[in-house]
Amino acid sequence: MSPLRIAVIGAGVIGKTHIDALAQLPDARLAAIADPGAEAGALAARHGVSHHADYRALLEDGRPDGVIVATPNATHVPIGLACVERGIPVLIEKPIADTVEDAQRLTAAAERAGVPLLVGHHRRHNPILQTAREVIGRGDLGALVSATILYTFLKPDGYFDVAWRKQEGGGPILINLIHEIDTLRFLCGGIESLQAMRSSKTRGFPVEDTAAVVLRLRNGALATISLSDAAATPWSWDMTTGESPQFARQSVPTHFFSGTDGSLAVPTLELWRYEGGRGWLDPFTRTALPLRPANPYVRQLDHFARVIRGEEEPLVGGADATETLRATLAVREATDSGGPVRFDA
Ligand SMILES: NC(=O)c1ccc[n+]([C@@H]2O[C@H](COP(=O)([O-])OP(=O)(O)OC[C@H]3O[C@@H](n4cnc5c(N)ncnc54)[C@H](O)[C@@H]3O)[C@@H](O)[C@H]2O)c1
Repeated sequence: MSPLRIAVIGAGVIGKTHIDALAQLPDARLAAIADPGAEAGALAARHGVSHHADYRALLEDGRPDGVIVATPNATHVPIGLACVERGIPVLIEKPIADTVEDAQRLTAAAERAGVPLLVGHHRRHNPILQTAREVIGRGDLGALVSATILYTFLKPDGYFDVAWRKQEGGGPILINLIHEIDTLRFLCGGIESLQAMRSSKTRGFPVEDTAAVVLRLRNGALATISLSDAAATPWSWDMTTGESPQFARQSVPTHFFSGTDGSLAVPTLELWRYEGGRGWLDPFTRTALPLRPANPYVRQLDHFARVIRGEEEPLVGGADATETLRATLAVREATDSGGPVRFDA
């Protein structure tokens, strides 16, 4: 079997992560890079592949077997459509699009053309989340009662030297929260409704620095997400999972799933259950579930290779990613309206 030739469009922070991850796959290799940025030509030369400033030239150049789109959000749909029109399977970074309507347009085009579309919600490829999903799905916690998610961290002051990060749309609701919404959907199922508040009190920028979200899930459980990029805490996925080496790692849980029979802390995978009597006066048993660390970006590309070969369906398809986007955008809507936002079943 000859190695798959996979091209990368957009070689910024996450594009480079994908290029590094590709190097770890035995049955795929980097085919070409498209990026108009000043450094992209040298990057392509270091990897011994062709470079194009315009992604359309890349798509015509020896037709790659698959394409990774890691460009700014607003370009995901036009570039995705260009891949789909040429019948090239595509992995699009999250969010799938800027709007639900554009996400639906891309999803429909891919379905019509029969071209696989995978969306880069990489956490779903992390064995930690996959184990947590199995535990909750198997009913080890009993019926789910509540989920509590902390995504609080401190972005350094220099991060805000770029003007758009201080403006509406550049804050943690649209940049970071989408990961937690997707995590919640992956582990606990659909969202029925949500309410939210946001604040910009700490930094004083036009965009929010902090938000609190309350969600009612379709299975009847209630969930809360506490979000901030202005709080000095270790309680964030990035710092606690070791997914990205640039974050100093902390061994504390950030996600708490509670059921009628037990509860699970994530990413530490501590399972808490009553073994004898069952009530708040009885002793608890704490079990550390086995952790199987693995790089989710590498696993995502391994999956993408199997999707290209027709061996697997995309773990996160367009319709699924559209629901994550819909709920994330609804958080901002709810902070403005004050009222609940409800979702059709
Ligand atoms: N899954 C994750 O963990 C994760 C992490 C970070 C970013 N992202 C997503 O990845 C995307 C990129 O984010 P980033 O942080 O890497 O941004 P970035 O600014 O570091 O990189 C974007 C790159 O795209 C290039 N580019 C812009 N327009 C282009 C075009 N038309 N054709 C080709 N290249 C073009 C830019 O020159 C730049 O090099 C965003 O959608 C973001 O939401 C995902």
